[in-house]
Amino acid sequence: MIETKMELTPHERDLLSGAEGETMQKIMETLARYGDAFGAKRFVPLDGPAHLVGTYAIIATKPYVELLDQLVEEGIKTKLPFTGNPLPLDYDNIACTEEEKRVFDRIYVDQARLEANLAKIGMENPEAYTCACYLDEVGNTPKRGDNLAWAESSAVVYANSVLGARTNRNSGIIDLFCAIVGKAPQFGLLTDEGRKAHWIIELKTTKLPGPHALGSAIGLKVMEEIPYIRGLDQYLGQTLDSTAKDYLKEMGSSTASNGAVGLYHVENLTPEAKDFGEILIRPGAKTYVIDDAELERVVASYPLMWDDPEGAPEMAFIGCPHYSYSQLCTWTELLEAELKKQNREQLAVNTVFLAALPVLKKLKESDYYPRLRAMGAALTHICPLLYTANPLCAGKRIITNSNKLRTYSLARYVGDEDLVRILVRGEMGS
Ligand code: F3S
Repeated sequence: MIETKMELTPHERDLLSGAEGETMQKIMETLARYGDAFGAKRFVPLDGPAHLVGTYAIIATKPYVELLDQLVEEGIKTKLPFTGNPLPLDYDNIACTEEEKRVFDRIYVDQARLEANLAKIGMENPEAYTCACYLDEVGNTPKRGDNLAWAESSAVVYANSVLGARTNRNSGIIDLFCAIVGKAPQFGLLTDEGRKAHWIIELKTTKLPGPHALGSAIGLKVMEEIPYIRGLDQYLGQTLDSTAKDYLKEMGSSTASNGAVGLYHVENLTPEAKDFGEILIRPGAKTYVIDDAELERVVASYPLMWDDPEGAPEMAFIGCPHYSYSQLCTWTELLEAELKKQNREQLAVNTVFLAALPVLKKLKESDYYPRLRAMGAALTHICPLLYTANPLCAGKRIITNSNKLRTYSLARYVGDEDLVRILVRGEMGS
């Protein structure tokens, strides 16, 4: 048995000494080493289901695919059914050429095997593949104070900040191992002290900023530290209604991709900031002022990586992280109004909206679905980043209002107001 500085319960000690087999021993050893590396004193039981990030199979994830094979062979499962990140493929709803499909099928050659294994290990249901697992329609919605072990950065920051749950930004596989043992090492964001802010963000813009631009500025500045944001409540109010939640979902994903933010507090709005206010700010916290000019500077710094920077957009992805029902409805109305204004009936850009299957199901029961389809938009549950793993697709001139997608691909970021106009007109110009 390895040495660990963590205090272990008798059962944890048994696991570590191999009483439940070699595989469980290795899983426990990995978690104990992980806890030691971050100074954890003990494990805490998980209060809610996992949300796994490893839901796609490419050549680089082959060892992970084989690990799942082994878990299945040995009948090892997670303590609770879990949700998982979006899948890579949806030929029914995203138009692909035969050549693109052939390349996708080679890239994701082990995908069916991976999904079958995830189902055996504890995947809740085939509709639970989404990064927005916390939405009501999906149902993996942690409660305040729940200890979790998630890995998807946009979901981690939402769970911590908006829902007041507690999860570190774990890696894939650590999230799976914690789910199997039903425990996580207690350090960082799982402690009261670890949830205090290192930064005060003073928002001094003249209007509500775009959430991705604001999140980007914050993430680039604070990196993995915790910001306490002042001034956002003047625009979002002091109640976490669906508009505020949607905004914070977008902003958080951007803080987590341009930095590595796992938790932010918004003064007078997010649960811990409401209850504890400035007690959450560490002594000596640094201050970052964000005004209109600072946001413009940040957005202007994004590199434009299209082969032909002057070319017209070929494709648009909207909904990274996955959109809520109300966001899809709002976008339907925005696009309809712009089509009317430009005296057109169809979008000029191949536009793909992204949302969880249960959210899309709800949309299909409303009149918003036929309205979006009538203007030519597609709707899917995939992750657009996994679409760009195909070299035939990566080089397309893709536009998006997601700073996360922009950060990890060659896609070009466009704020919502401009995006609406571009989708209808088909050209980038102002
Ligand atoms: Fe979700 Fe994929 Fe974007 S996991 S946050 S849709 S990059």
